[in-house]
Amino acid sequence: MSAVSGGGTRDRVTVATFRAMKDADEAIVMLTAYDTPGARIAEAAGVDAVLVGDSLGMTVLGFDSTLPVTMDDMVRATSAVSRGISRALLVADMPFGSYQASPDDAVANAARLLAEGGAHAVKLEGGASVAPLVERLVTAGIPVMAHVGLTPQSVNVFGGYKLQGATAAAGIALVQDCLALEAAGAFGVVLELVPAELAAMISEEIAIPTIGIGAGAGCDGQVQVFHDLLGIGDFTPRHARRYAEIGVAMTKAVAAYAADVRAGAFPAEAQTRHLDADSVAELERSLPLTLEAD
Ligand code: KIV
Repeated sequence: MSAVSGGGTRDRVTVATFRAMKDADEAIVMLTAYDTPGARIAEAAGVDAVLVGDSLGMTVLGFDSTLPVTMDDMVRATSAVSRGISRALLVADMPFGSYQASPDDAVANAARLLAEGGAHAVKLEGGASVAPLVERLVTAGIPVMAHVGLTPQSVNVFGGYKLQGATAAAGIALVQDCLALEAAGAFGVVLELVPAELAAMISEEIAIPTIGIGAGAGCDGQVQVFHDLLGIGDFTPRHARRYAEIGVAMTKAVAAYAADVRAGAFPAEAQTRHLDADSVAELERSLPLTLEAD
């Protein structure tokens, strides 16, 4: 049983729980979900936080980046996920373009994720430059999780999905980003695709929890993408471990269904409903019918 509130106890996880888990040296487990069944699986497995990531664009919507994901996509997915969880903290990503144009737009869009989507917090990408926006959102009553390192919405600036903070100078800049985000009121920060040594140092330097993805074991928690973990889809990033081959199992099941239909083996008696004998007889006597004129 956990000392704080993570690890499978039934207390609702809040942003305060996140901080208490870090203080108690208790690992925070976070997983993405994009729909109610996925959220129910994450919740039943006892994860502490569910992220409706804008990875939705790639995992579910078939795009090759997160950039085309819209606010409406995120609100609908977040509300679906909210119907599947009762304990986990629900964090929703602010999609590309929803917070860059103006702070007023950002507050309105973040408020939609809480009010319409049922999220408890939002996540947005960026370092010190977004700290004033983080402060504005937190002041408006919207908890914010930050996201630094590889920030996929900036893939065109980085020129690919590459390791970040790979030199001492870049590492110092990332530490500065995290300090600024913490000072602005972020309750946690995702560190994506940064060297393990740097992630461990950042985790020591700041009081808010770091949640790593491709950032080594020295973070305060880990986040993974649902489809990567379960083996749905062909591509597995180097930082992911496939804990199952659900995609293969699903394809086999659908192929077995197709074969049964073609062989006349589905539906069988168990999937069939019948008419009583009198109704069958009456129907047979009445056929064939002709179309009645108006
Ligand atoms: O969109 C997402 O799934 C994310 C995680 C990879 C952290 O931002």
